[in-house]
Amino acid sequence: MTAPPGIERVLFTEEQVNQRIREVAAEISAKYQGRDLKLIAVLKGAVFFLTALARAIEIPLKVDFLAISSFSNHAKGGAPGMVRIAKDLDHPIQDEDILLVEDIVDTGFTTRYLLQTLAGREPRSLGICTLLDRTARRIVQVPVDYRCFEIPDRFVVGCGLDHKQRYRNLGYIAVMNPEAGD
Ligand code: IMP
Ligand code: MG
Repeated sequence: MTAPPGIERVLFTEEQVNQRIREVAAEISAKYQGRDLKLIAVLKGAVFFLTALARAIEIPLKVDFLAISSFSNHAKGGAPGMVRIAKDLDHPIQDEDILLVEDIVDTGFTTRYLLQTLAGREPRSLGICTLLDRTARRIVQVPVDYRCFEIPDRFVVGCGLDHKQRYRNLGYIAVMNPEAGD
């Protein structure tokens, strides 16, 4: 695919992303050997990372998905950071080893909400694995167990991350000027 308008620079190439996913998958395979691993992702952004990660993990695992609506501004009817479940998981997670797979942990509001919601369902363990971590913008602290890349405080697209629902299918991670991308 040709570089979309508004792309400023590639942060991580497809090869770098795939290599890093393999490294993290190896860590997860070792850590969860002999356990009851389930990967959970939020539709839609994290699905791209989840499938790549799952294929690189070398132990049996299950997957499940949920969808959320976040109200990032008052016009949409909520305070900043408000999140609710729009489509729940298909199955219970009680006594399972759950790894919440995120595309990006930014302010941390979404991840904290998901952690609290999942923790209430009594999994045996609950961890976080994120493709991207932007700690510069963190507002609420969340315990990230695995992360592929730390990124600067710039808007990015690719590998599941979108701008107005586009560019999720880029194999690389790129910095984008959101105003130039329409
Ligand atoms: P948080 O609740 O602020 O951590 O928001 C995380 C969510 O915001 C992610 O799951 C993404 O959907 C979205 N998001 C945050 N930063 C970016 C970005 O740079 N590009 C695309 N989506 C982003
Ligand atoms: Mg998005």
